[in-house]
Amino acid sequence: MIRPFDEPIYVTRPLLPPLDALQGRLAEVWSSRWLTNAGEQHERLGAAIGRYLDVPQVSLFNNGTIALLVALRALGIRGGVITTPFTFPATPHAISWSGARPVFCDIDPVRLTLDPARVEALITRDTSCILAVHVYGIPCDVNALQDIADRHGLKVLYDAAHAFGTKIGGVGIGNFGDASMFSFHATKLFHSAEGGALTCRSASLRKTFDDLKNFGILSQEEVSGIGINGKMNELQAALGLAVLECVPAELERRRAVIARYRERLEGIRGLTVVSEPGGVESSCQYFVVRIDPVSFGCSRDTVFDRLKHYNVFARKYFHPLCSTYDAYRDLPSASPAHLPVATRVVQEVLCLPLYGTLPLPAVDAVCDMIRHIQTHG
Ligand SMILES: Cc1ncc(COP(=O)(O)O)c(C=O)c1O
Repeated sequence: MIRPFDEPIYVTRPLLPPLDALQGRLAEVWSSRWLTNAGEQHERLGAAIGRYLDVPQVSLFNNGTIALLVALRALGIRGGVITTPFTFPATPHAISWSGARPVFCDIDPVRLTLDPARVEALITRDTSCILAVHVYGIPCDVNALQDIADRHGLKVLYDAAHAFGTKIGGVGIGNFGDASMFSFHATKLFHSAEGGALTCRSASLRKTFDDLKNFGILSQEEVSGIGINGKMNELQAALGLAVLECVPAELERRRAVIARYRERLEGIRGLTVVSEPGGVESSCQYFVVRIDPVSFGCSRDTVFDRLKHYNVFARKYFHPLCSTYDAYRDLPSASPAHLPVATRVVQEVLCLPLYGTLPLPAVDAVCDMIRHIQTHG
């Protein structure tokens, strides 16, 4: 007999720093009377993020979506942008808002990121960029994508919304491609309630990001590019600084939760844990399993629905595929026949609850529920 949880268990809970840690910083903001436009907290957070992510250039934003828009404009992206359908709506929508067109490409069956072997066939004279997503924080095959981009003169932009702290062979994920976007939304491991950043290696590109997020204003006398308001304010930055201090302990707790899931889910027929390739330091943003309906015995949707009866609110990220949205389904690249892997994977993935304050006995109970669903439906 499996007992439901008394209180709902959500897929995540925002990381909240001790209120004191925030209040001290808010007091500094109050005494400065400087609420936005590259204030003291903003400058401190930008420097701290640069150190944490080990990237030379960081530009902070009010959210990740505006950061993506600014990156696309700064890189002069036009025409076709090759991207994955297996992502959050912001990825293809940012391409569309910038006046370019998403060209959907299938994903790798193991990494679940853009499949480099499928990218090249989609490149035409109209293609200007590859916008790849480190989905769930799993790094794309950055070397293969860069090689293709170099051969065809394309820009590479990474949506690293889930990859805060991911490292490949010890190198921070924000160092690859022309630029990377991070989201600091409340659901992310590191957050500033809403917020985001662009990282890159080029100081001049970073300067363009900084100008464009401030309406293109260069000085009181001069406005250059067609900018937008993408500025992170001082309240967001103060929260971000307080949250950043809590990230190492949160990571440690999340690693323990992930290890427990792995141990307790081991050997379940038809269930596999989605994992990073070797040599990758994980962002611990999501804990994702795949459920093969034939060998597991029922579908991912059945597991998702049954878990709800037990008061467990898993999520089917990133279902439905972006290529099936009304806005995109008529694009030639959106045909399911061109996206067989993504079309299958999106029916199999399930994100289980992952956050530092999730007690290990609760993890055990979720795993018991999944086993029970397999045997009793
Ligand atoms: C893959 C991906 N890209 C972009 C975004 C958008 O980021 P934001 O919510 O900070 O605008 C998100 C979600 O938060 C995301 O998951």
